[in-house]
Amino acid sequence: MYKVLARKYRPSKLSEVVGQPVAVTILKNAIETGKLHHAILFYGPMGTGKTSLARIIAKSLNCEHGPTVEPCGTCEACKAISLGRDVDVIEIDGASNRKIENARNIIESVKYPPLKRRFKIYIIDEVHMFTLEAFNALLKTIEEPPPYVKFIFATTAIEKVPDTILSRCQILYLKRIPEGEISKKLRFIAQSEGITIDDEAISLIAFASNGSLRVAEGFLDRCISFKPNEPITKEDVSVVIGTPTKEKVKAYLKDILENNEEKALQVIKELSENSINLESFNRMLLKELLNAKIGLEIKTALLNIFYQSLTDIKQKVDPEDALIVATYKAKAATKLDRIESLIEKAKGLNFTEEKKEIEEPKTDEIEEKEEKNGEEKVDLILKTLGGKIINIEKLND
Ligand SMILES: Nc1ncnc2c1ncn2[C@@H]1O[C@H](COP(=O)(O)OP(=O)(O)OP(=O)(O)O)[C@@H](O)[C@H]1O
Ligand SMILES: [Mg+2]
Ligand SMILES: [Zn+2]
Repeated sequence: MYKVLARKYRPSKLSEVVGQPVAVTILKNAIETGKLHHAILFYGPMGTGKTSLARIIAKSLNCEHGPTVEPCGTCEACKAISLGRDVDVIEIDGASNRKIENARNIIESVKYPPLKRRFKIYIIDEVHMFTLEAFNALLKTIEEPPPYVKFIFATTAIEKVPDTILSRCQILYLKRIPEGEISKKLRFIAQSEGITIDDEAISLIAFASNGSLRVAEGFLDRCISFKPNEPITKEDVSVVIGTPTKEKVKAYLKDILENNEEKALQVIKELSENSINLESFNRMLLKELLNAKIGLEIKTALLNIFYQSLTDIKQKVDPEDALIVATYKAKAATKLDRIESLIEKAKGLNFTEEKKEIEEPKTDEIEEKEEKNGEEKVDLILKTLGGKIINIEKLND
């Protein structure tokens, strides 16, 4: 039976976990010294190792040759735990067991010592789905479980877990896995599977997976199905997972900076029609912007605009709509930037001589005008740049 890469390459011991050095070091030391906290909570984005680490802890504690940071992987305990079928390692899906009755069942079962292993381990995934009553019912048990019990919680939404629970747990954050680490793992998998894939293609997958190794492995699966017996190129990746190419991102940014919003909108439309992942496009654009050699002010303004569109997309706004709106906002920002640069230019000119000649009534006139509205102020700057400069300092008040 074909096993998807994410399952086939699930890490089975701490040394195989990638990109989480802090959590791994803490756990390694705790297991080696026998001082593992009785309630651990993993939180972080999807596909970063929460469930994997929970099972690794269970194996480390219960391996027939343990407790050890190098569980053998072959004893009965290790095998059963890997399959999620051990009698004493109880995996609970928090989303479908969220009620107080479920919590009471846990409290009841905690009273009985493990049947076969050293520890009875409760792995509760998506724990943030528990109801408040369920959490409250569990408080005392989590605080002081019998010595043979360990709780391991995992969640992608720690803000939904009550403080009373958090304060009773050791909290370990799993971060997005760096692109370099993801690439390394993908290269390792490709090699083990005898697949030819070039580095650029791997980098593209690593970028598009946004820190989730599971997502990256899923993308690789899809590429392999697309080109089963041929080398995989960056074009293949682009087609299969809908990642935009760098060239498109650069072209769009150029259009924006040149205030050519018609062309920029055309790029968005074309990407959307070709089912290119617009969230990836937006993220690539932010990266490109960060490295762009443009003025700090326009850079900040555009970063703000495209950070907002990314946030909108993540909150399920239609990606095409979000980017169309962002394109218009960007147009406004670049226009403003040009006006500002005109002001800067004006400041750079030396008008001390002329300034002395300015007659008082004229300055008053400007002040009045300025108060009226900003548009007139802009007009004035443009006019003055065209010919006589009146009193630049007044304009900067
Ligand atoms: N840090 C990691 N090191 C090695 N492999 C990883 C890591 N994180 C994820 N993976 C890969 O992704 C798969 C899924 O990981 P895991 O189930 O641990 O993620 P998770 O954080 O529990 O995700 P979710 O929040 O979606 O439940 C693993 O089987 C493994 O192939
Ligand atoms: Mg999980
Ligand atoms: Zn073992």
